[in-house]
Amino acid sequence: MKYIIAIIQPDRLDHVLDLLEKKEIHLVTVSNVMGRGRQKGIATVYRSHLEAGSLLKKVKLEIAVNDAFVKATLDAITEGARTGEIGDGKIFVLDLHDCIRVRTGETGGVAIG
Ligand SMILES: Nc1ncnc2c1ncn2[C@@H]1O[C@H](COP(=O)(O)OP(=O)(O)OP(=O)(O)O)[C@@H](O)[C@H]1O
Ligand SMILES: [Mg+2]
Repeated sequence: MKYIIAIIQPDRLDHVLDLLEKKEIHLVTVSNVMGRGRQKGIATVYRSHLEAGSLLKKVKLEIAVNDAFVKATLDAITEGARTGEIGDGKIFVLDLHDCIRVRTGETGGVAIG
């Protein structure tokens, strides 16, 4: 199991979610966050606007998936978020040790989806 964290441009969120749904990936956590990458938060001319000094508004997606869904998840995020411009985002892939559905007590891969 993997825990996938993606930081993307807010205006790409709907497209990424559409592509994830097409691949049967429905369970996701989405947060509004602020961040900076290699350009240290210098706003691009036409997309993000500068906030709180050197931080730009971004969207964070968090998705826990079984191994069989890792590639589809990464492909959907990459395809949906990419424009080719700086600041398109970054994806982090973490090993996930366990998952527990609180209502039933199910654990592991069964509890993920
Ligand atoms: N090493 C990192 N650690 C934590 N967060 C990061 C890291 N790299 C990027 N991020 C987050 O991802 C967001 C988007 O990063 P961004 O796409 O600008 O990456 P980049 O490495 O600067 O690549 P690019 O040159 O394409 O802009 C950042 O605003 C930040 O929130
Ligand atoms: Mg950058």
